[in-house]
Amino acid sequence: MNSANTAQAEGPNAYPSAAPLEFRNVSKRYPRSDRPAIADLSFSVPAGEICVLVGPSGCGKTTAMRLVNRMTDLTSGDILLDGESVTQRKPAELRREIGYVIQQIGLFPHQTIAQNIATVPKLLGWEKDRTQRRVTELLELVSLPSEMGDRYPAELSGGQRQRVGVARALAADPPLMLMDEPFGAIDPINRERLQNEFLRLQAEIRKTVVFVTHDIDEAIKMGDRIAILREGGVLAQYATPDELLARPADDFVARFVGADRGLKRLTLSQLHDIVLLDVPTAHVGDAASDARERAAQRDADELVVLDGGEQPIGRLPVARLNGQPVSADDADPLTSTASRETSLRDALSLVVADRNRPLVVLEADGRLAGLVSLELISAALRPADGAGSPEAARGAQR
Ligand SMILES: Nc1ncnc2c1ncn2[C@@H]1O[C@H](COP(=O)(O)OP(=O)(O)OP(=O)(O)O)[C@@H](O)[C@H]1O
Ligand SMILES: [Mg+2]
Repeated sequence: MNSANTAQAEGPNAYPSAAPLEFRNVSKRYPRSDRPAIADLSFSVPAGEICVLVGPSGCGKTTAMRLVNRMTDLTSGDILLDGESVTQRKPAELRREIGYVIQQIGLFPHQTIAQNIATVPKLLGWEKDRTQRRVTELLELVSLPSEMGDRYPAELSGGQRQRVGVARALAADPPLMLMDEPFGAIDPINRERLQNEFLRLQAEIRKTVVFVTHDIDEAIKMGDRIAILREGGVLAQYATPDELLARPADDFVARFVGADRGLKRLTLSQLHDIVLLDVPTAHVGDAASDARERAAQRDADELVVLDGGEQPIGRLPVARLNGQPVSADDADPLTSTASRETSLRDALSLVVADRNRPLVVLEADGRLAGLVSLELISAALRPADGAGSPEAARGAQR
């Protein structure tokens, strides 16, 4: 967090540390091409949000990015960065102010990692000391050891190079980051790690980001909003991940997000987003009659047994209460439990694996939070309608 702020205080940038971006009826037709690569594209990205452009190969994602930093010029319409048309800016200047992580990384092979990261600061004429400090800061920010600054790109793994690409794009604290399939060439495990890392980083630096992918799962994970493009650069839908999964605008979007969109939606919410079922409890040593009465009051057929420290230790079917005081031996041990951070999708798997029995949810301190049932999970899947929906809860969380 400090790194970005410091850089901004020192930097000669024309923009604040994150700026809104707007596409206004943008069209692009390449010379000698009979159809547009982008057709009448309009959407806006609020400052500090990640907008994911997703769609099949050739639908114009890279073109859309290159229109923003004027590596290619638009045919009609306008693109506004911080309310100002990019067509009014000198392309070279604009490019220094927009971080760009290109498809296939694109580090300079004959420059060290530090030199690669320092590309834009050097163009901006920063002093050596300041550049060096920034490089050190950025290496730390993207979790690379500072010694790595002296190596060459070929001496790094794909994932490490990818991080350098991100560090280089962030160097001059740009108000906008364009990331074109930044994790496209990485194996699934490292890809997930880089995604998580980037989301953590973004929580600190809060840049406006346009992120391109053709992987819908990556889009759902990374995006505050998703723009789905179809062939010819036509916008099929622009929505939050939850809206997109709950209400795909048409068949193209529905096919693109996949038949399992209900399950995908469940990954967007965690158990702390829903109200859990209350379950009656009994302590070890409680009289059977008290326990039975407590269960009857809630119309429950089982109790959760707690030890002296209020920690759940088992589940006791009411039918097993035989006049003897409540004992841990009569209870079924807790084979699987969830926490408030468990996603609804993982909770669903656990419930189904336990033959649809409601799942015990624990607080961070190990105390009982409640139960989650199949019915609760499927209720959360009903289309979002404002308060109480997974998306509303996720929005509040962010
Ligand atoms: N310089 C160019 N000249 C002419 N046509 C181009 C040029 N660059 C791209 N195109 C065409 O514009 C369309 C969009 O290309 P673009 O690279 O934006 O697609 P993309 O969505 O990024 O695809 P991918 O997922 O494969 O990276 C394609 O039909 C492509 O052939
Ligand atoms: Mg592309």
